[in-house]
Amino acid sequence: FVPVGSAGSGGGLVARDAAGNALAAEPYLASRPANSRELVLGLQGEATYLIVDADKAIEPFALNAVCTHLGCVVPWVAAENKFKCPCHGSQYDRNGKVIRGPAPLSLALEHVDINADGQIVLSSWKDTDFRTGDAPWWNF
Ligand code: FES
Repeated sequence: FVPVGSAGSGGGLVARDAAGNALAAEPYLASRPANSRELVLGLQGEATYLIVDADKAIEPFALNAVCTHLGCVVPWVAAENKFKCPCHGSQYDRNGKVIRGPAPLSLALEHVDINADGQIVLSSWKDTDFRTGDAPWWNF
């Protein structure tokens, strides 16, 4: 018997679906296509995109879905390979880097790891933003 771990060693949070179920990597990947971006409950309970890459692996980063303009949740538009905010037209590339305003900043990053129980764990991203080379603007 293996007790369900809380969140791994890094103080992270197990990603959950909209019904509150903890997400395990293996079944998650088995039921998602390559290049998918789907919303889960992430840090601070916020809508967060988990990304499955072209090789059917979970990307080591997730994207907070909250638009950096005025806070709408930004939908992924697969046909255009970008995120497009319905509120005022901001756009973000496939990695959440802002490519059109009025949003001033890229979508916030979260680390993604798999814990010993096979669950998907999100944790704070405090490293340099690999998309811009800047320090993170977010604080969670
Ligand atoms: Fe997204 Fe204004 S809230 S563009």
